[in-house]
Amino acid sequence: MATAEAGPTQVQSVLAKGPIADPIPTLEEARADATRLKGIQEIRKQINEHGIKYIFFQQVSVSGHVNGKGVSATMWERVAEDGYQLVYGATADLFVDREERYIGFGPEESELAAIADLDTFRQLPWDSRVARVFCDCYDTETGQLLEADPRQNLKRIVNEVEQELGYTFLCGVEPEMMWMKRPRGSDAGAAEGITKPWCYHISQFEELRPIILDVIDFGEKLGINPSYGDHEDSPGQLELNFLFDRAVRTADNLSTYRQICQAVARKHTREGTYGDDVEVLATFMPKPFTGVSANGAHHHFTLVDEEGVNVFYDPDGPAKLSEIGLQFMGGILDHYRGLCGITASTVNSYKRFWDFGFWAPIYKDYGWQNRTTLVRVASGGRFEFRAVDSACNPYLTQAALLRAGLDGVKRKLDPGKPQQRNVYDVLAEGGEIPRVPEHFGEALQALEEDDVVRSALPGRLYDVYMHYKRDEWERFLSAVTDWERERYLDVLP
Ligand SMILES: Nc1ncnc2c1ncn2[C@@H]1O[C@H](COP(=O)(O)OP(=O)(O)OP(=O)(O)O)[C@@H](O)[C@H]1O
Ligand SMILES: [Mg+2]
Repeated sequence: MATAEAGPTQVQSVLAKGPIADPIPTLEEARADATRLKGIQEIRKQINEHGIKYIFFQQVSVSGHVNGKGVSATMWERVAEDGYQLVYGATADLFVDREERYIGFGPEESELAAIADLDTFRQLPWDSRVARVFCDCYDTETGQLLEADPRQNLKRIVNEVEQELGYTFLCGVEPEMMWMKRPRGSDAGAAEGITKPWCYHISQFEELRPIILDVIDFGEKLGINPSYGDHEDSPGQLELNFLFDRAVRTADNLSTYRQICQAVARKHTREGTYGDDVEVLATFMPKPFTGVSANGAHHHFTLVDEEGVNVFYDPDGPAKLSEIGLQFMGGILDHYRGLCGITASTVNSYKRFWDFGFWAPIYKDYGWQNRTTLVRVASGGRFEFRAVDSACNPYLTQAALLRAGLDGVKRKLDPGKPQQRNVYDVLAEGGEIPRVPEHFGEALQALEEDDVVRSALPGRLYDVYMHYKRDEWERFLSAVTDWERERYLDVLP
């Protein structure tokens, strides 16, 4: 649903908030930073004023999980100044792999220190006694920023690329997700959509009204600026957008949106809104059902100059793109397979590419307002990268897209002629267009072979991500599925 939302006002207000600074380079400097210490005291006033008792200090892992510690408000100053410490393995959810080895970091390795990013301190609207603050992580051994922390990494990559290009990267995500219900205590198989798969149908919206009103209310209070949305064409499927912003804020907002949906699901389970014995679930699983649409998370982005003008746009250019727009597109298309290793980051993500006919982006192409291509050029010359789903880690996806686009500009890549036809018609006539990786294993291989996309995950961030995701893939390869049993239990004679 295209709307003229992106008036100059939104771009101006985003730019007016100013750039997001690089994290303070060392732990020692962060702990001694006078501005931070003053900010910590300012927040103490809020804590007392609002009767806050407990604070979640949050970091984001390579999988996109929001991890961290809960801290009594009495300890605010101590933990906000010094940071909380956790084993390095928290960056990999402290999961172990199939060989029972800790993913990324062994138990013999040292600890990270997570330093609160004070601008993100917010009271939780679903329990005013609790607040949250996002953190950037440091290595307590070296005192340097922790490579394996996706959030600090994104801050640095955005500033590097913006510096190099001289423009500001603005990104908005359309996170599709599904509201489900199941009898309390039943398993994943029992979950079904709360509403019918009728796209744009207000009556389905009405069925979700109690949920939507809470999501909007909590979203406004947590400053993620909910904008507009619609009921999509899968059971319980909702797309609720929030206004675009600078990359790190957009990533924080998507993580926060997921936490809001989780809190609202628990609230309506407790309140029995859909039945006393009914558990309400909010899922960001890419493809819960065969035969209906999946949960995409299209990434829309522009590069704007100081006046807020999108430099990708040239109404007379191919697909209405400027020279830098075409080069950036060239970079995205040149690295699209490696990018999938990060933007379609689960085993289940590839079912979205195989279950045809739901506008999932399968072929390496781009075009003006063409929803059958991998990258659609939308109004005002906005890029829409479509091979990304709702289980993505937005700290990693944006870093990777920036690196790929920058590479296209540096090498003056030509993306070729835009595709204005329906890609499926082209294929039906025997046209050949390279397609996305067939499965997650292939995408991880493509990522391993793509130095440019890998450069978005410097040092141990790449190692931890690959150890985590390779293990996920191997666990799938070794798991016997219901489909196989259905298919093979009586395979012979
Ligand atoms: N100048 C901009 N820079 C970056 N993102 C933008 C800009 N203008 C709008 N956006 C973002 O683009 C997204 C547009 O979402 P919208 O649902 O309208 O897209 P759509 O792809 O046309 O719709 P659909 O996929 O549902 O058919 C929003 O997330 C919005 O925040
Ligand atoms: Mg879209």
